Amino acid sequence: MAFPIKLPGLPFLKGKEKKKLTGTYEDYESKLIGYLTSPPTIVKHPNEIQADKYHRCIAAINYPRLVEAGWLTRLIEMNLDFDLSIHIAPYSIESTIKMLETELKKQKTDLFGLKTEGKIIPQSLIQKHEDTKALLEAIQSGTEKMFSMALYIDAKSYDLKELDKITAKIRGQMNSIMVTPKITAYQMYKALKSILPIGHDELKITREITSSAASSCFPFAITSLEPHATGILIGFNKRNSIPIIIDPFELSNPNMLVLGTSGGGKSYCIKLMLMREFMESVDINIIDPQAEYTDLIKTFNGKTIKIAPGSNVVINPMDLMGQTLDEKKLSLLAFFRVLMGELKESQRAILDDAIDATYEEIGITTDPRTWSKRPPTLEDLYKQVLPLTRSDKDVIYKPALEIANRMKTYVHGPLRFLNQQTKIDLDNRMISFDIRDIPDVGKGTLMFLLLEYVYNMMKKSKKRKMLVIDEAWMVLSAGEEGEYILRLVKTCRKFNLSLTMITQDVEDVLTSRAGRAVMANTATKLLLKQDTTVIDEITERFHLNEAETRQLRIAGTGDALLIAGALRVPIEIKASPEEHKLITTKPDELLDMVRKAKGPGVEREMAPELDIKKAVQEKTAFTNEQIKTLMDIGFNEVRVSDLEGTSKLYMIKNETEDTDEHFVVQNLARNEIKKYTDKALIHHTKMPDITFESSDGKIVAVEIVADISLKRNIEAIEEKINILRKYDDYFFIVGDPKLVKYESFGEILTRTQVPAKIKSYFEQ
Ligand SMILES: Nc1ncnc2c1ncn2[C@@H]1O[C@H](COP(=O)(O)OP(=O)(O)O)[C@@H](O)[C@H]1O
Ligand SMILES: [Mg+2]
Repeated sequence: MAFPIKLPGLPFLKGKEKKKLTGTYEDYESKLIGYLTSPPTIVKHPNEIQADKYHRCIAAINYPRLVEAGWLTRLIEMNLDFDLSIHIAPYSIESTIKMLETELKKQKTDLFGLKTEGKIIPQSLIQKHEDTKALLEAIQSGTEKMFSMALYIDAKSYDLKELDKITAKIRGQMNSIMVTPKITAYQMYKALKSILPIGHDELKITREITSSAASSCFPFAITSLEPHATGILIGFNKRNSIPIIIDPFELSNPNMLVLGTSGGGKSYCIKLMLMREFMESVDINIIDPQAEYTDLIKTFNGKTIKIAPGSNVVINPMDLMGQTLDEKKLSLLAFFRVLMGELKESQRAILDDAIDATYEEIGITTDPRTWSKRPPTLEDLYKQVLPLTRSDKDVIYKPALEIANRMKTYVHGPLRFLNQQTKIDLDNRMISFDIRDIPDVGKGTLMFLLLEYVYNMMKKSKKRKMLVIDEAWMVLSAGEEGEYILRLVKTCRKFNLSLTMITQDVEDVLTSRAGRAVMANTATKLLLKQDTTVIDEITERFHLNEAETRQLRIAGTGDALLIAGALRVPIEIKASPEEHKLITTKPDELLDMVRKAKGPGVEREMAPELDIKKAVQEKTAFTNEQIKTLMDIGFNEVRVSDLEGTSKLYMIKNETEDTDEHFVVQNLARNEIKKYTDKALIHHTKMPDITFESSDGKIVAVEIVADISLKRNIEAIEEKINILRKYDDYFFIVGDPKLVKYESFGEILTRTQVPAKIKSYFEQ
C-alpha cells in the first residue's frame, strides 16, 4: 500500500532532493534504510575491501560430483567471522535439455575421436558421459530439475594479518569438502554486493547443479537427522548456534521425556515447546500438579479445569471411558497400584473378584452393548470389598482390610468427590488440569485418572495433540509392573498423541518398569542439569561420553542434552522476551511484571483496546474504525436490553446455534456471576446455559429462555428441567415479565431481577 505522507527531512538529502520528498512511505523508508545501513566510507583494494572491517570474498568455482545432505555444515560450523551467501536460480527445462543434449553430442564426438585414434580413453571422461546421460534421463522423467548455483564467502576482520589467517582456514576447509575456492581479486566490490542479503548476484560465478544437490546445500541440516519442514524450534546447537528444528511427530514416536533436577528448567522448556506446537495447530492438554500453567493457558484463551475436593469436575474411576471391559479392568488394577503403592498377589486376587462382581451387579458384562450403561462408582466396589474384611481367614480379611482402608478416603474421606459419575468438558484446544489443591495422597491417583481419561478422549481423533504430564514421577512410580502405562506410550503414536513426561525423579524412570517402558518408547529426550547423586546412572543409561556427563553436571539454566532419534547434541533452550514473560516462574520477575503493568496511567487515555477475543462487547466502547475491523472479522451489531433494563447496542460474534439475544444475555449473566466467583462456566450444549458454584459450594444452573420457545415448546422445556433438577439449584431468565406466570417450571426471573438473585448466592 502506498500512500503519500508528510516526510521529516532526511539528513543525507540536500537541496533539490529534499524538495522531491513528497513520495510514498515506501520511497522514504528505502532511502532511510539505505542511509542507516551504509558505511561512511568504502576503500577498494585488489584483494580486499575496507568498509569499517576488511572484507575478502571467496567464490566457489567447482563442486564435488556427489554431495550428501548437510555437506556445507562443516564450512558453516567453523567458528570464524564470515558471511556465506548461496544464490540458487532455476533453469528452464527446455534450455536444460538442449544444453545437456549438446553436451552429450560433444562428449560422444570426443570419445569417438579418441577411439578412432586408438588412444586410451580416460576414466573421467567415461564417468562424465555416464553422469550426463543419467542426468538427462532424470530431467526428462521429471525426477530432477536444474539450477544454477553460486556460493560466496565474505571473510571479515579489523586486521589484515588476521584476515589472511581466516582466508587460509576457509580455503582449507573448502578444499577438504572438495569445493574449489577462488579469491575474487579485482572484483571485491561486486563480490561484496553479491553477498549482501538482498538476493542480487553481480559476480555470476555459477555452476549448474541438480535439485537434489541444491537441496543438500540447506545449511541448517544436521547430518544425523532429517530436517523437518513442520518442526518447531527446540533450541540452538551449543557448538555452532545452529537452530535445531525438530518435528517430534515425524520421529519414530512423538513422545518426549524431560529429565532434570528441580529448578533446572524442565517445565520452562516444555512450556516453550507447547506454545510453539500450539501455533502449529497441535492441541494441548496438561496435567499440572503445581498450577503453574494457568497464566499461559489464559494467554492462549485456553481452559483451566480445576479439580479439587468440592469442585464440580469429576472423573469416575469406574467409568469405562470408551474402553472394553477387559481394558478397564487392567487400568483399574493399575489405578490401585498407584493407590496402594504396590499390589500384593493376595490384594490383586481380591480386587479382581470385587471388580468383576461390581460390574456384573450393574449389568455391565463382556457384551459391548452393556458398556454404555451407567457405570458403578467406587462405593459400589467398596461395598464388594467390605464383607471380606469380616472373613475369619487371614489371607482374605488382611488384604481386604488394606484395600478398604485405602479406599475409604475416596468413599467417605477427603477425596469422596470422586465417588460420583464423570463430569468434565474437554471443549478447548488448550486445557490444563489444575490439581494443586488435591491432597498429596491423592495426587498420584488423580494424575493417573486424568491420564487415562484424556488418553481415551484423545484416541477419538487423528489430529496432532500433546499430553503433558508435569511431575510425572507421581504416576511413573506406580509399582513394579507397568503394563498399563506401557500400553499407553506404545499406542499413542497411532492417533498422533505425543505423551510428554517431565520428571525430576530420575531414579524412578531408570528403575521402575513403567519408567523404562516410557524411556524405550520415547524418541525425544531432553536431559537438563542433573543431581550429582544420579549422574553416574544417567551416564550409564544414556551412554554419555565424558564431555556430555560434565555438561550435565555443570549445566546452567537452559543447557540441555538433546537426544532425538539418532541425533545427540548439546543445546541451549532460549525463549524470546515475549515468550519468557509468559512462562517464567521466578518471583522477582513476576513482581516486576506486575509493577510494570500497573505503571503510569497512560493507558486510560488511549482508545479502548480492540479485544477481538471477547465475543460480546458494548458498541460505545469502540471507535468507528474499530467497529469496521470487528465487522470484517465476523462481528455483528445487536440491540439487547441489559440486566439493568437499559437497551444497549452490542458488538458480538455469535458462533453458537442460539439467537443473538440469547447469546448476549448469557454473556451478561456470566459477567455478573464473575463479579463474585471464577467458578462459572458457559455451555453451548445440552447442558444448562450457565453453571456456577455459590459461596457455600452449591452448583447452580441458569437457563436463558427465549420468550417464544417458552410458550411454544413446553415439551422441550420439560426435558430441560429434568437436567436442571440434577443441580443443587436452578433458575430461568426471561425477557418478557408476563412469562413469570409459568412458575410451575421453577423460579423464573426477568433480566433486571438477575443481579440481586446472583448476589444472594454469595451473601452468606
Ligand atoms: N531456558 C531458560 N531460559 C531462561 N530462564 C529459564 C530457563 N529455564 C528455566 N529458567 C528459569 O528458571 C525457573 C525455574 O524453571 P522451571 O522450568 O520451573 O524448573 P523445573 O525444572 O523445576 O520445572 C523458570 O521459571 C525460569 O525463570
Ligand atoms: Mg517444574
